[in-house]
Amino acid sequence: MNKKNIIIIGATSGIGKSLFERYAADGNRIGIVGRRTHLLDELRQEHPDTTFTATADITKLDEIARAIDALRDELKDIDLAIVCSGTGDINASLDYAVERPTIETNVMGWTFVIDTLYHIFEQQGHGHLVAITSAGGLRGEPMAPAYSASKAYQINYMEALRKKAYKSGNHICVTDIRPGLVDTAMAKGEGLFWVMPVEIVASQIIAAIRRKKTKAYVTKRWHFLALINKNLPFTLYKML
Ligand SMILES: NC(=O)c1ccc[n+]([C@@H]2O[C@H](COP(=O)([O-])OP(=O)(O)OC[C@H]3O[C@@H](n4cnc5c(N)ncnc54)[C@H](OP(=O)(O)O)[C@@H]3O)[C@@H](O)[C@H]2O)c1
Repeated sequence: MNKKNIIIIGATSGIGKSLFERYAADGNRIGIVGRRTHLLDELRQEHPDTTFTATADITKLDEIARAIDALRDELKDIDLAIVCSGTGDINASLDYAVERPTIETNVMGWTFVIDTLYHIFEQQGHGHLVAITSAGGLRGEPMAPAYSASKAYQINYMEALRKKAYKSGNHICVTDIRPGLVDTAMAKGEGLFWVMPVEIVASQIIAAIRRKKTKAYVTKRWHFLALINKNLPFTLYKML
């Protein structure tokens, strides 16, 4: 398999970390970003010759711009960029202080990161842009309104970029990965079901990326649930 130059934004834990471990074990050169420097350093120690790190908070635009520049200096050409960074909290009481970081991270910071990476791929003339959105972005969720709305935003944004890439005829591939529940720190709340192991989720994400899918639900059983959820009339959805 050809070795790739990869950037993973949000690689310190959960899905991003699992993707890092899989791609790094295959000998790819990887630049990783997150706020927790000590976790980035631990990952670099696993594959010191092929791992590059940059600490950044995606809500601080200067910081994340510098981080992506620094990784680009190391990697030169970037084949694949995966944006995993995200946050969200249960907020049934509609406390704005809880919604705000979700909007700042999943909408404002995320958009800056996605646009920056897309521009790099335009300059290069090629590249594969992947975002981890969520099956939770298909419907409004009263327990986490900003989270579900932010993921709907991301889903539409990725579709916009996919159409833009098609119209401009450039060689940029845009993939939207929509996980169901995954066993990471992000899976919050009571009575969660079908919570999938992160390793299985990472395997299916890597397979979808390899096939250059436009979008993929992971795991596959969540595709089934997503289709039902998406098409359920509101008169039924409101009772769940
Ligand atoms: N777990 C699920 O059930 C589930 C389901 C659907 C979609 N997703 C999505 O999957 C993605 C990854 O989440 P996860 O489940 O792997 O949870 P996680 O373990 O909490 O990972 C979140 C990652 O995002 C990074 N991050 C958060 N805020 C950031 C910020 N301001 N700047 C830079 N990086 C930031 C974190 O790194 P630092 O803390 O080091 O910055 C961490 O690496 C998220 O976008 C999430 O919405 C998760």
